[in-house]
Amino acid sequence: MHDAASLHKAISLEGRTAVVTGAGSGIGQASAATLAAAGAKVFCADLLGDSAEATAAAIRALGGHAEGVTVNVAVRQEVEDLMDRAIGETGRLDICCNVAGKMSEAKVLDIDEADLDSMLQVNLKGALFGCQAAGRFMVDHGGGSIINMASTAVLAPSPDIAVYAMTKAALVQLTKTMSVEVGKRGVRVNAIAPGFVPTKMTSRYYTNPDGTEDEAMKEMVLQPMAKFAPLRRVGTPDDIAHAVLYLASDLSTFVTGQLLAPNGGVAGVS
Ligand SMILES: NC(=O)c1ccc[n+]([C@@H]2O[C@H](COP(=O)([O-])OP(=O)(O)OC[C@H]3O[C@@H](n4cnc5c(N)ncnc54)[C@H](O)[C@@H]3O)[C@@H](O)[C@H]2O)c1
Repeated sequence: MHDAASLHKAISLEGRTAVVTGAGSGIGQASAATLAAAGAKVFCADLLGDSAEATAAAIRALGGHAEGVTVNVAVRQEVEDLMDRAIGETGRLDICCNVAGKMSEAKVLDIDEADLDSMLQVNLKGALFGCQAAGRFMVDHGGGSIINMASTAVLAPSPDIAVYAMTKAALVQLTKTMSVEVGKRGVRVNAIAPGFVPTKMTSRYYTNPDGTEDEAMKEMVLQPMAKFAPLRRVGTPDDIAHAVLYLASDLSTFVTGQLLAPNGGVAGVS
């Protein structure tokens, strides 16, 4: 039975090392900040190095431990260098969150091969490179938790995002297969399928040609989503970061190969 101290210990990441890709914005940024608030030293990685460093600086300003790292997850060597840096500086790697991702839109009949390749490279191969580089260390050093960011798109089909949904569906299968390969070595591998969260990725629905957000359009897009969601709202980056924290911490030591879907209850009804 837990007392307050043992429950606090189970959720604490004190002394642990985490890598979060896509940490320059949105869900990755919130995940990095949450893991740091729980005590982890977080390597905040992003293609946009200034954004990665801004996240790390914000964490440090709050008393946490973080470093920003410029990484293109589409390049295997860069992902390996990222993990090596985290391991080299701290001597450990406990948590790897593969959050970096991008979106493209086209009807199936119009999918462009170059776009398909580019999406596979980032959303699927980028996460695979993270699973491999982190997983190799974790299987040899007593375990760890790998968390892959999938999407509600794998649960409820939407038009125009087949390529995105394909990359995320493959990521879920990668997650499940890896979990049965490395479980005996103490490595847990799970995926998260977030519902709609307003971020840079999703703001394209209400962004003006000059890059500013159209507030009226934003309201028109978000309000019906909230209205039809069982929990009557869209998500926040923190909603997803809380799922990341659960899967990263010892609260989930019996959980692997799972797809956790924080989505306000919408999957399957949209
Ligand atoms: N926002 C949503 O509604 C939603 C829903 C389901 C899943 N997701 C997934 O969550 C993840 C984060 O999305 P978000 O909404 O926070 O988007 P976002 O655009 O705010 O953040 C994505 C981050 O990934 C980085 N990135 C892109 N390509 C990269 C690369 N090659 N190497 C390194 N970094 C790269 C970007 O620079 C950006 O900082 C994505 O994998 C996305 O597919 C988002």
